[in-house]
Amino acid sequence: MSFSFDEFVAAVRGAAKEPDPNLSVRTLLEKYVSDPSPIITHTPEDGEDEVMLFEDDALSIWRCRFRPHVIMPPHEHRVIAHIGTYSGEEKNILFRRGDGQLKHKTTKIVGPGDVLSLNKDCIHAVSANGDICSLSLHIYMGPLMKLKRGLFDWETGVKSDFSLENFDRLKRPASALPAY
Ligand SMILES: [Fe+2]
Repeated sequence: MSFSFDEFVAAVRGAAKEPDPNLSVRTLLEKYVSDPSPIITHTPEDGEDEVMLFEDDALSIWRCRFRPHVIMPPHEHRVIAHIGTYSGEEKNILFRRGDGQLKHKTTKIVGPGDVLSLNKDCIHAVSANGDICSLSLHIYMGPLMKLKRGLFDWETGVKSDFSLENFDRLKRPASALPAY
């Protein structure tokens, strides 16, 4: 299959205008990641780990590389998210807040060709599983950069603003956390 990120963005924008945008977007993402090779070929090996490909009021589309042994802090999106992996494995650690704690719910490993959909209220922390980087396409059903979102303390679940400073403060080496 031929692939370009521009073509992918155009296709997702089209799917998001269908009568059932979530079903159409998820189905399209499944189709793309079922053939990972051309996407890998078009992914630069250097540059930013998280690259915004598109955003408008209805949709945000990102390409995300996560690294092994470092875990991005627990955060919310406040919109439905669809995550499709095309190389390596993306580890999604899902939490809920309660009783002054952040409680681990489950961990989902998203491998090449897999799509994981997360609801609006989901709180997750992310890393690459194993010893190699993960590469995924992330589609958020809203304007991610415009939304006021939160990061969550690993132990207490206390919410803080999604700022670069708080993000760096809450990022952890995997060795500092339980084996989620
Ligand atoms: Fe996320």
